[in-house]
Amino acid sequence: MKAWRVVRHGNPSTALEWLDVEPPEPGPGQIRVRTVATALNYNEVDGCYGRYRTVDPPLPYTLGMEVLGHVEATGPGCETWQGRRVAATASGAFGAHAELVVGDAAMAFESPEGLSDPQAAAFFFPFHVAHVSLFERGHLQAGETLLVHAGAGGVGSAAIQLGAACGARVIATAGSPHKLDACREFGADIAIDYRTEDFAQRVVDETQGRGVDVVCDLVGGTVTQQSFRCLAPGGRLMMTGFSGGIEAEDEGGLLPRPIIFGNFSVGGVLMAYADKPLPVGHGVNVWPRSTGDAVQRHLLEWLDAGLIRPVVGRVASSSDLPVELERMEARETVGRTILEW
Ligand SMILES: NC(=O)c1ccc[n+]([C@@H]2O[C@H](COP(=O)([O-])OP(=O)(O)OC[C@H]3O[C@@H](n4cnc5c(N)ncnc54)[C@H](OP(=O)(O)O)[C@@H]3O)[C@@H](O)[C@H]2O)c1
Repeated sequence: MKAWRVVRHGNPSTALEWLDVEPPEPGPGQIRVRTVATALNYNEVDGCYGRYRTVDPPLPYTLGMEVLGHVEATGPGCETWQGRRVAATASGAFGAHAELVVGDAAMAFESPEGLSDPQAAAFFFPFHVAHVSLFERGHLQAGETLLVHAGAGGVGSAAIQLGAACGARVIATAGSPHKLDACREFGADIAIDYRTEDFAQRVVDETQGRGVDVVCDLVGGTVTQQSFRCLAPGGRLMMTGFSGGIEAEDEGGLLPRPIIFGNFSVGGVLMAYADKPLPVGHGVNVWPRSTGDAVQRHLLEWLDAGLIRPVVGRVASSSDLPVELERMEARETVGRTILEW
């Protein structure tokens, strides 16, 4: 089968080659999907450069976290998945940009019939990440104020919609006038260009000095530090992504003082489900599959009610992966970029 392999580290055009590899075999608890579409995830840009420590297999390896397709083989215990159209995470969160993809069934969800293939590919991952950030971790309530950073992106566009759907007031940041328009279209009440404006001061002004209750932080670094200036007492900043520089995941620099004296909380977010999560103590706490099922039910309710919709910013061919990842790196994308296979 054909797959996009990271063969060396560098920018996506340097790092990736389109190669023949042996199809992966599903083990116990796993399914094999024949790929119809794949979605681009910002972490894959970092993967090409070799700076993403969370998913860092030895070279060469097949890039890609998210796949949409039909289950064409199953491992023991997964027979009921056969033939279903699913959106799934590749096993280990790499291997998805390939004609056949193996993933854990605990990280697969049947795709709603009403969605086209590109829409279904854009639905699962961003909305699950945003839901876990806003609700399971951030405990956002109707009537509260939500701040979403990088609001025009894949996860950001989902977070804005979920915040608006739950009855929160939503403030979004993004990096260009075109993206600010997109944020407002997704449901943001206020959109701020954080590349040209002091967003924290603007948030303080827009909330009459009250600040925001929840921050869905998808950027990290100085954007996190600046956000401390506009959090309400009792607020919750959810560290959900680091597209401003993944190195910040492992760097010091978060001083306790602003957190203590701000009377707010800073929390971590990992969207990952397992049938039998490992006991605490291994450094990674994943959610039980039952949490994923509850999130999916809630998302489908809101999808059916017309309160949320997948955002397909662009559909391209599977042959375009390197150039499309470079568009993402250059901050040119809105919503999810989908590749058709
Ligand atoms: N916690 C989890 O379980 C989990 C799971 C998956 C993904 N994530 C994280 O979610 C975040 C969003 O992922 P996504 O795939 O939806 O990406 P995305 O938001 O569609 O794209 C990244 C966006 O980040 C913004 N950005 C800010 N600083 C940047 C910089 N220095 N260079 C490039 N972009 C910058 C850009 O928007 P502007 O131009 O508007 O600034 C860019 O469009 C990522 O950080 C990813 O790691 C978290």
